Amino acid sequence: MKDSIIVIRGKKRLAGRVKISGAKNAALPELAATILSSKPFRFFNVPVVEDIKVMVKALQIIGSQSEFTGNALKLKLAGLQSHLVPKEIAETSRASILILGPLLARNGYAKVSFPGGCQIGDRKIDFHLEGLKRMGADIHSEGSHIIARAQKIHGIEYTFPKKTVTGTENLLMAACLADGSTCLRNCATEPEVGDLVCLLKKMGADIQEIEADGLLIKGQTSLQGVEHAIIPDRIELGTYIIAGCFLDNDLIIENAVPEYVKSLIQVLHEIGIEVRLGENTIQVSAKGEIYPVEVETSPYPGFPTDLQAQLTALLTQANGSSRVTENIFNNRFQHIKELNKLGARIEVKNNVATVKGKTDLRGGVIHATDLRASAALVLGGLIADGETEIRNAHQLFRGYEHLPEKLIKLGAEIQIVNQDRDKYHNII
Ligand code: EPU
Repeated sequence: MKDSIIVIRGKKRLAGRVKISGAKNAALPELAATILSSKPFRFFNVPVVEDIKVMVKALQIIGSQSEFTGNALKLKLAGLQSHLVPKEIAETSRASILILGPLLARNGYAKVSFPGGCQIGDRKIDFHLEGLKRMGADIHSEGSHIIARAQKIHGIEYTFPKKTVTGTENLLMAACLADGSTCLRNCATEPEVGDLVCLLKKMGADIQEIEADGLLIKGQTSLQGVEHAIIPDRIELGTYIIAGCFLDNDLIIENAVPEYVKSLIQVLHEIGIEVRLGENTIQVSAKGEIYPVEVETSPYPGFPTDLQAQLTALLTQANGSSRVTENIFNNRFQHIKELNKLGARIEVKNNVATVKGKTDLRGGVIHATDLRASAALVLGGLIADGETEIRNAHQLFRGYEHLPEKLIKLGAEIQIVNQDRDKYHNII
């Protein structure tokens, strides 16, 4: 997969039904939460993507038994075999940091390599570490590893200085097995955090949601294994909604939760595209003309940073100048240079991208730099005239389940090939 290239022949109409997979960013902390119990778990709707495979591998290293059957996953960590998440694992997925809190809580000791993952800017973990320290952990770094040790962690009162998704998840999981109560404030409220709370409550955790973004957790001595279906992926949903806005596409998206993408639907309304909402479906049909817009990313329920790149690709087709402000990560405009290679006219100044539309895109050779950037490049390729070759395509497979297959079913012309294009070896 490392050397795969996506080849798209653009300007094909997309129409029909597409089904959204389980949320990668809900599944990751939920699989890590199995560390909190020695009992068996069964998850449904697990997206089989590279980041999830890496998390399962990390759990296997510390002693979990796992079995995938389609999108169902059984996991059981009866006894710990290791307290180390090695560098090779942690550098491929940032979510490995989610093992630190639960492993420390269960075992009193954890050694996790500093996380890697998407290179989208400074991705600090100081609030994770600060919270765990306050819970009584002695934390220090040794080479590329973080080592955390505590006889028994205890409850704390902690206000996150800034909202952090995995930071909230890490401290929440640790607090479930801590001595006494923990009160976390200014928590991330993304649906993925909500689904983790739901799983932990089923496991027997005592968690109360207080005010708009607080969590009050009473630590337990043990937790149960349970069955749990992962919520649908709102970023995958948003990506297909945006795909439906191009050319004369007409998509019905199934297994959708409209509530999760309200901020995107609002932006689409502003640019002149209305979506039809069903109970679990969203229909989006392209309109002739779309208008420019000003958008800023912010924590949920604001416009998600994980859809910024895809929206930027759409705004190349708006009649006029749009402004996209990225407020979460400081290096999340890497798709722009690549979209410009296809003929887009986007300028970046600090954290603001000005997208000058409308531009006719033409095929070219471009590089995927991170997961969501790669989705934006696929969208660019779908509307470009001629052939687009997206290199470094493994980025896409970290987080989108069966994306080429789903798009081909809708009418796209896509091939995944090896580096050696002479052979033009077809992977799908
Ligand atoms: N931050 C700190 N200190 C911390 C933690 C975060 O300063 O201790 C800062 C970060 O540097 C960043 C901001 O807070 O500027 C928000 O980062 P956050 O911690 O919320 O991001 P994350 O938990 O590392 C998750 C998702 C990302 C998604 C962000 C924002 C997972 C596994 N990853 O990352 O997803 O972009 O929240 O919503 O849940 C993706 O799926 O492509 C992806 C990158």
